Amino acid sequence: MADFDLGSSFIPALHKPTALLPITKHHDALLYLVETFPVTIVVGQTGSGKTTQIPQFLEHAGWCAEGKLIGVTQPRRVAATTVAIRVAEEYGCELGKEVGYSIRFEDVTSAATRIKFLTDGLLIREALVDPLLSRYSAIMVDEAHERSISTDILLGLLKKIRRRRPELRIIISSATLQAEEFLNFFSEPSEGLEPADSKANQIGSIISLKGRTYPIDVLYLDSPAEDYVEKAVSTIFDIHNTEPDGDILVFLTGREEIDTAVQTIAERSTNLQPGTQSILPLPLYAGLTTEQQMYVFDSPPENTRKIVLSTNIAEASVTIDGIVYVVDSGFVKLRAFNPQTGIESLTVTPISKASAAQRAGRAGRTKPGKCFRLFTEDAYQRLPDMNPPEMQRSNLAPFILQLKALGIDNVVRFDYLTPPPAELMIKATELLYSLGALDEYAKLTQPLGMRMAELAVEPMMAKTLLSAPSFDCISEVLTIAAMTSVGGAIWVQQDGSKKQIESARRKFAAEEGDHLTLLNVYQAFVIKGKKESRFCHENHLNFKALTRAVSIRGQLKRYLERFGISVDENLKTPREGVADRVRRCLTSGYFAHAAKMQPDGSYRNVEGGTVLYAHPSSLMFNRKADWVIFHEVMETGNKIFIRDITKIDKGWLIEYSAGFYQTNPR
Ligand code: CDP
Ligand code: MG
Repeated sequence: MADFDLGSSFIPALHKPTALLPITKHHDALLYLVETFPVTIVVGQTGSGKTTQIPQFLEHAGWCAEGKLIGVTQPRRVAATTVAIRVAEEYGCELGKEVGYSIRFEDVTSAATRIKFLTDGLLIREALVDPLLSRYSAIMVDEAHERSISTDILLGLLKKIRRRRPELRIIISSATLQAEEFLNFFSEPSEGLEPADSKANQIGSIISLKGRTYPIDVLYLDSPAEDYVEKAVSTIFDIHNTEPDGDILVFLTGREEIDTAVQTIAERSTNLQPGTQSILPLPLYAGLTTEQQMYVFDSPPENTRKIVLSTNIAEASVTIDGIVYVVDSGFVKLRAFNPQTGIESLTVTPISKASAAQRAGRAGRTKPGKCFRLFTEDAYQRLPDMNPPEMQRSNLAPFILQLKALGIDNVVRFDYLTPPPAELMIKATELLYSLGALDEYAKLTQPLGMRMAELAVEPMMAKTLLSAPSFDCISEVLTIAAMTSVGGAIWVQQDGSKKQIESARRKFAAEEGDHLTLLNVYQAFVIKGKKESRFCHENHLNFKALTRAVSIRGQLKRYLERFGISVDENLKTPREGVADRVRRCLTSGYFAHAAKMQPDGSYRNVEGGTVLYAHPSSLMFNRKADWVIFHEVMETGNKIFIRDITKIDKGWLIEYSAGFYQTNPR
């Protein structure tokens, strides 16, 4: 490596110094590389200080001169928000001032912002208005090893942008050893472009942060566990009863499992010997509010063992201090797209060896740790080394739409880190064509396709919103779009109150299905709930989620107004026939998500090959219907559930799907 110019470098005094992090030692080397090469790849274990320190190093070193920003992307919203809070604290500013974050529907930045955390998806969206991302002097793509679809697309875009903006600094941070692959990607020539930079003109370099970790004992089961949630709970109590002090981090797959486990632990902990150390179970998953997520970072009360039950967001994105024991279910929920059915769902999948290592590494940060794997050593040996990148198993329609809107017409020749399978590209193009976003030459349509790309919702919902004026139901559809974009649960389940939720929900129920029920809930909320704090409590409604829906609705409305679509809100009720028009409008966007009820109460997709079940949280659970459309799909225990379901007429499917269904749906 070349000589370091250490003369002018110094270690910045952080406003609130963290204990010496492994990255501190690399401060000078890191800044040298960033100054010398356009691309720097930083490899280091979770907790070494990459996310929180690198942007501050760059800011101190003057990379924010002339009002430029340092952007740090995260694959997850949770990480973007929690890390911004932490860095603002260290920097010593109010959140949203020098340090801020921006995620979909939530922008906490200002003119003063210098360090901006955002999701990688949002940065791609920013490129629609600022194609060269000229506001940024440096962009750090964090957690690149996760290979989320947005990360992959963003890397392709950055490679293009770099050729036009040689001064832009790109930093790629990864918790695992895929560094060479990233560096090669940036060094290779792009197809159809001038030859790559010659060897002499090296474009990037790799730096490894050596972190100190303590030994971790890995333990396996003798025989497979039948129910890993139950096994996780019993393992927690075994640890609690027999192992020395130290907090426990448990990896499960999703909110339902985690809520169940938290409840079971709380119930069983009443049997603990009085006077002994108590136990505090805390959930961590994406659907929680930021405040709820922050609890896991607090130290537990005295004489209490903290148990954090998390999805894989704790695998790399966030660091929780004090963890000595890790309990790993061996599973993760991943996106899976079936090109035959065109249905994308979240599916519980075995983790990879790389994930297992990452998870185990969460123990042993502050002293020797133990990792309890809830699977056998044989099963471990059969795990894949890495899970395939998301690009290989996702519905690509939203991304193709965005690439087209960015002026990348030939999406097949776009510079992908790993090119997606052709059948996924074809399926996505077909859907976009049927939605009217692409013409028969696969060019973006104007204005529909361009507007669909700009709207911050997925293409099927974007089409629904943009068709609403022609069905005279724009106000209603805006509400439905906002309610389905909230992300958290609209209904809160307190103390096993399933029955009460049922009866509360019946009050708002619309015979036609979930979408119109959501509309009723929202309308009741804006009339009563915003002022009356009892309203939400009595109806088991989530005040935060509904408040968020109000804000999202406002933002979506502003998009439409920018397109010149006016939204009449002074509507007299009742609106004659509006339910019918809303259902037709929903069909015009969601025809690809259609299903028919079978005599046994389950559903089949249009081709007839896939069995679907109404999710218990749906109003249509255990109710009769004929044809329906649904918002989303989730897979649990080998059953495919559909959620947010509305009854439709079969005839509408043909009327509104522009040839998507070649034959008459059966
Ligand atoms: O990105 P990387 O995993 O390398 O580390 P980081 O997120 O920058 O975190 C560095 C250290 O900051 C962690 O080891 C924690 O001690 C601390 N931290 C924290 O206490 N709370 C947070 N929300 C984030 C980081
Ligand atoms: Mg990090």
